[in-house]
Amino acid sequence: MRGSYPNTRLRRPRATAWSRALHRETILTPADLIWPLFVTEGKGVEEPIASLPGVSRWSVDGIVARAKEAVELGIPVVALFPNTQPDRRSDDGAEAHNPDNLMCRAIRAIKDACGDDIGVLTDVALDPYTSHGQDGLLDDNGYVTNDDTVAALVDQALNQAEAGADIIAPSDMMDGRIRAIRMALEMGEHHNVQIMSYAAKYASAFYGPFRDAVGSGGLLKGDKKTYQMDPGNSDEALREVELDIAEGADSVMVKPGLAYLDIIYRVRAEFLVPVFAYQVSGEYAMIEAAQSVGAGDRDALLMEKLLAFRRAGCSGILTYHAPVAARLLNG
Ligand code: PBG
Repeated sequence: MRGSYPNTRLRRPRATAWSRALHRETILTPADLIWPLFVTEGKGVEEPIASLPGVSRWSVDGIVARAKEAVELGIPVVALFPNTQPDRRSDDGAEAHNPDNLMCRAIRAIKDACGDDIGVLTDVALDPYTSHGQDGLLDDNGYVTNDDTVAALVDQALNQAEAGADIIAPSDMMDGRIRAIRMALEMGEHHNVQIMSYAAKYASAFYGPFRDAVGSGGLLKGDKKTYQMDPGNSDEALREVELDIAEGADSVMVKPGLAYLDIIYRVRAEFLVPVFAYQVSGEYAMIEAAQSVGAGDRDALLMEKLLAFRRAGCSGILTYHAPVAARLLNG
């Protein structure tokens, strides 16, 4: 009679809080969170981002303060994205290779202040540096070239590693870039610099507020569909992940998050590699919008969603809610 009522009552273990705690299969801790931060020029500057209520761009000193806050909260990694000055953006995104660019100054400042108390993850893609807002180099027809772009990304990644980046995270979706970056890191003696590949990154409508935050939104003409994945595809995501592992990725990412839980689940089932989700800007904004119109309780909404990523198989989650979530988890 196994499994039949009334021998089995699944409500029995749900009856009290202590019992629910005892039986909980999945947990979330601050150590599962990665906090994305936007860097801007200046000193003592905080610029709120209208489409991301509660998120600001910070000048390098403010970024260091956020990194220290992350250490206090038990968040192990911050992810950096620069809002490059307009006059430093160009067709070829050359500012990405400047050893003294905003990104490198932020990396060095965090590492000087916090050392190995925190990991610094850096995005590799040209969009914060190009005058056209695409992630790579354009040919005469406006097509984003693959192999020339990969060469530029290798230089960008090395520039970040020299500045002290701990995890290189290529978000560009060019073919072959993981192998090229891994070889360059090995040749440059950066043996312990990790690569977290944005392996399955979709051409998504959820990136809008991010593009405002890095200042590329107004510049971008058209879309990114010739390199980011089609939202209808799932088998192809497994091929992307398989290639990136073979090319030398230490971990892989699925992006956006909530609409792609099935992809996370399939990747985990297929490969023994740590998987991360990026709960992207549009997802953050939707939770904040729900709260502001009284459609839900922000804290409860965000914790339920973050737990869902863990349940689907994620090792961790990149989320703008990281400090809020860590505070809630720390009581
Ligand atoms: C750019 C990049 C994007 C995000 C992270 N890196 C946007 C894009 O591909 O246009 C999106 C993150 C977010 O929406 O929070 N290479």
